[in-house]
Amino acid sequence: MEFVKYTTEGMVGIVTIDRPKALNALNSQVLTEIEQTFDAIDQEAIRCVIVTGGGEKSFVAGADIAEMSSQTKEEGEAFGKKGNDIFLKIESFPLPVIAAVNGFALGGGCELSMACDIRICSENAMFGQPEVGLGITPGFGGTQRLSRIVGMGMAKQLIFSARNIKADEAFRIGLVNAVYPAEELMPQAMKLANTIAANAPIAVRACKRAMNEGISVDIAQAVAIEAKCFGDCFQTHDQIEGMSAFLEKRKEKNFINK
Ligand code: CAA
Repeated sequence: MEFVKYTTEGMVGIVTIDRPKALNALNSQVLTEIEQTFDAIDQEAIRCVIVTGGGEKSFVAGADIAEMSSQTKEEGEAFGKKGNDIFLKIESFPLPVIAAVNGFALGGGCELSMACDIRICSENAMFGQPEVGLGITPGFGGTQRLSRIVGMGMAKQLIFSARNIKADEAFRIGLVNAVYPAEELMPQAMKLANTIAANAPIAVRACKRAMNEGISVDIAQAVAIEAKCFGDCFQTHDQIEGMSAFLEKRKEKNFINK
């Protein structure tokens, strides 16, 4: 891959968008490489994924404006669909995904972070949906996910004004869960990923499924989804192991995602 790097550290997979010349902007090739990278993640060995940006300045500075500048209506719609399909795949990826936002997360970059389950960022991070200043709407899920994360009123203000916000404001409105000095961002992301990875993967994945599927349906259907996920955990190796460890007052647990 030219623009997306994939490495692993123990049970954690790290996806790095690495196109420094364009501050990691998402052109068609970068999008395809992100999809191919996620498709290739070993879901048996890996228990949590981190997405970050190469270099120190940018997570992702948006969709590629040069590529979009000459697109027709049909091409624009197809480009939006391509990004949306891939971000939906990340959102519904069976493993938890953490966005470690190290700098600009604008437009498609903010949208990529919002397709991840959890966002943490560095002090120099900047978030925003600048699209209306370019004469377009957010196109990779921003009009839908921002309001689900920070509420409709704040999302409309940010999107209509195209105002970029710094890390402290992103934290205040709940767009990110934590802000760290730049050098601490990846260690903190790894710490969180390893904490998640130490829990029963079968249960973590069921929680993600229940939470994602439940948010789009009414509460009665949502709790029915939860009941199914809850029941599915029983008689698994990891449920028996987790409860046995508690009853035996044993700290070590051997979770195997079965
Ligand atoms: N697309 C294409 N190229 C981009 C880019 C983008 N989104 N963002 C940055 N670049 C390129 C610049 O053109 C520049 O290239 P050259 O050196 O060849 O001129 C290089 O990256 C470095 O950028 P700057 O010189 O502008 O760096 P800066 O530090 O002065 O500014 C910035 C950084 C504030 C992020 C500025 O680059 C910027 O505003 N970028 C665009 C951000 C944006 O509007 N993103 C939304 C795109 S639309 C979208 O994403 C639609 C969607 O929802 C799908």
